[in-house]
Amino acid sequence: LQGLRVVVGAGGTREPIDPVRFLGNRSSGRQGVAVACAAADRGAEVTLVAAHIDADVLAAASVSPRVRVVRAGTAAELGDAVREAAVGADVVVMAAAVADYRVAEVSAHKLSKEQADGPEVSLHLVQTEDILAGLASGRAPGQTIVGFAAETPAPDETLLERGRRKAVRKGADLLAVNRVGWAEGFEVDVNALLLLDRRGELVAEARGDKRAVADALWDGIRKIRAER
Ligand code: CTP
Repeated sequence: LQGLRVVVGAGGTREPIDPVRFLGNRSSGRQGVAVACAAADRGAEVTLVAAHIDADVLAAASVSPRVRVVRAGTAAELGDAVREAAVGADVVVMAAAVADYRVAEVSAHKLSKEQADGPEVSLHLVQTEDILAGLASGRAPGQTIVGFAAETPAPDETLLERGRRKAVRKGADLLAVNRVGWAEGFEVDVNALLLLDRRGELVAEARGDKRAVADALWDGIRKIRAER
């Protein structure tokens, strides 16, 4: 990847509810950081746009001189940072777990039970923008856009079938699909991915620790770029 500029979005976004609470997710940032480090080790200049990432995981990326880290909190901040870094980039990989919804009106004060009417409370949520779909539809000539999809397929559907639908819907050049569950995919060092192209065709499968999977992803990205 010598001479290539790469952007990796990683970690889980946090959408504020009030000054002390947020809506988050279980992403540790491990897979995204592994993707960034693998690219740097192959000679790329990498911008890692980091949402919430476990401190020890982020420390691994910070030691590489070819990885520049930009911090982002919310989905909107991550979108702005990724789009800015993507200008002139050859490859953008969205490994971040981005909130699909944010709280419509963030409270300036800590919400208190004292103000509540009873034992139930509702939050009004509104959709965030789809960063990956926007990158894919606005990609510059020669730019490769890669997404991730964490899926819990229904019993009547395979991971491949579910991944195919998302690959076509997102329009990314490559979609890395993995199965997740409470004990699978998150906060663990191993992962298994299906790599699908824009038409939903299977390009490769990868299994192993998150670094091995990251290396397989870069092999897939090189293949896709070479075929173009
Ligand atoms: N993604 C994004 N912006 C969002 C949500 C997701 O860029 N607002 C990106 C993720 O970084 C990932 C890909 O889209 O690369 C797939 O994310 P996922 O959450 O699996 O897809 P969704 O768009 O949320 O689709 P669905 O709600 O159908 O699962």
